[in-house]
Amino acid sequence: MKKINQSSIPNQSFGWSRKQFVQKFSIGSMAIAATPSLLSASQVQPLKRNLKGIDLSKNAQIQIALIGAGGMGTQDTYAVLAHAGVKLVAVCDLYQGHLDKAKSQWGNDIFTTRDYKAILARPEVDAVIIGTPDHWHKQISIDAMYAGKHVYCEKPMVHSLDEGHAVIDAQRKTGKVFMVGSQGLSSLGNEKARELLAQGAIGDINYAEGFWARRSPTGAWQYNIPEDASTETLDWDTFLSNTHKRDFDPMRFFRWRNYRDYGTGMSGDLFVHLFSSLHFITNSYGPDQIYASGGLRYWNDGREVPDVMLGVFDYPKTPQHSAFNLSLRCNFVDGTSGTTYLRIVGSEGAMDVQWDKVIVRRNAESFETDPYLAAQAKGSGSSNTVARKEMKPQEEIVYAAEKGYLGAHHDHFGNWLTAIRGGDSVVEDAIFGYRAAAPALACNDSYYENKAILWDPKNMKLRK
Ligand SMILES: NC(=O)c1ccc[n+]([C@@H]2O[C@H](COP(=O)([O-])OP(=O)(O)OC[C@H]3O[C@@H](n4cnc5c(N)ncnc54)[C@H](O)[C@@H]3O)[C@@H](O)[C@H]2O)c1
Repeated sequence: MKKINQSSIPNQSFGWSRKQFVQKFSIGSMAIAATPSLLSASQVQPLKRNLKGIDLSKNAQIQIALIGAGGMGTQDTYAVLAHAGVKLVAVCDLYQGHLDKAKSQWGNDIFTTRDYKAILARPEVDAVIIGTPDHWHKQISIDAMYAGKHVYCEKPMVHSLDEGHAVIDAQRKTGKVFMVGSQGLSSLGNEKARELLAQGAIGDINYAEGFWARRSPTGAWQYNIPEDASTETLDWDTFLSNTHKRDFDPMRFFRWRNYRDYGTGMSGDLFVHLFSSLHFITNSYGPDQIYASGGLRYWNDGREVPDVMLGVFDYPKTPQHSAFNLSLRCNFVDGTSGTTYLRIVGSEGAMDVQWDKVIVRRNAESFETDPYLAAQAKGSGSSNTVARKEMKPQEEIVYAAEKGYLGAHHDHFGNWLTAIRGGDSVVEDAIFGYRAAAPALACNDSYYENKAILWDPKNMKLRK
């Protein structure tokens, strides 16, 4: 099978220059401005898939195994099986209930085991999906690549800052296809935002912000504990074998996100999605300073991690983008629950980026017609009076996915499968995955150590 040439930053060339975008924008806007009935409507343009990297014409069957058959591993498996030429042959999990469920979902003939090494030893397995808790991502990924398997590893790629280089090295040495599962960056919305930013739609980026707001118990990680949970039905010793030894505690097994030995807190669970999208859209390596604050405000259920977290990040100037600041927040006691967003702000406007939609707003007012400045000028006796109101061209474009769009998750797996078949590089390789995980993991270090974390995003190491 062809060795994949994976680059740290995905590189696509876009058809338009910034000047061409601005020209096209204003020509389109003026055309709309001339049609009074359309004046109040946003300009809506369909998002179309750039088929580069989604070529599934070579349909050699790829045999998949799932390691970690909980919530996301199951979703991943359904997403990959929606593609042609893919067969699930084996499933590994530490909890018997999930292995039984896997057989009932995908057939009695799949091989099931509690030992992931038994999966890696099977020659018929070409590739594995890793849907375990975060503290197992690094070791299973490395072992899988050295066993000759391609890997799709859920986000965050690693559990702590010091684990990233080992995964990058394993990917480089083995030449296996390695993809991290922040599926949002394969969305039409992220692709369009990246294209628009490159075209100069909002000028030079100077700020970005994002948040996740939740309130429900499930949203705050209070998952159900199965009634049959015991040391008979699950392999507690293996679960803990790479971290601190403790007495059996089903809360720790099934609500692992609440505990630092296994999970990576709000930033590792959720900020990492925003970093992945932002880095993809801006071609960024990441921030060089990371500060986090937060607290445990409501979900006092024994958890070790905050339920409100704020992060502030400084992005240095690079050849790809100007210097900018990022602010992220995550709140599990949030009355606006269920909302999430990512906004990128530039010198000439801003973009709200969703997976299936991008809204571009270009600044309409020039400084000269700013009402405050005009009033000031008037008060000071300047001859600069407030001008009569003008007809302004429409300054908002909404790009929305066409009906029938199968979504980011589908496309992310499409990219991975195409790479396995030798067709393209993956959009989120180990270097990209580490650069997205690192600032999220550094948030935890900043929060617990109460200090700013200085990071070298290009070389992916701590700065002194
Ligand atoms: N990409 C996304 O949008 C997204 C969404 C949710 C979760 N995730 C990620 O997916 C991963 C799993 O999260 P989840 O919500 O599915 O958790 P989960 O608890 O529902 O599933 C984890 C499964 O892994 C099993 N497991 C634990 N240790 C194992 C080991 N050593 N070997 C084999 N199986 C093991 C558990 O028994 C469980 O079935 C996490 O890393 C999480 O961050 C990603």
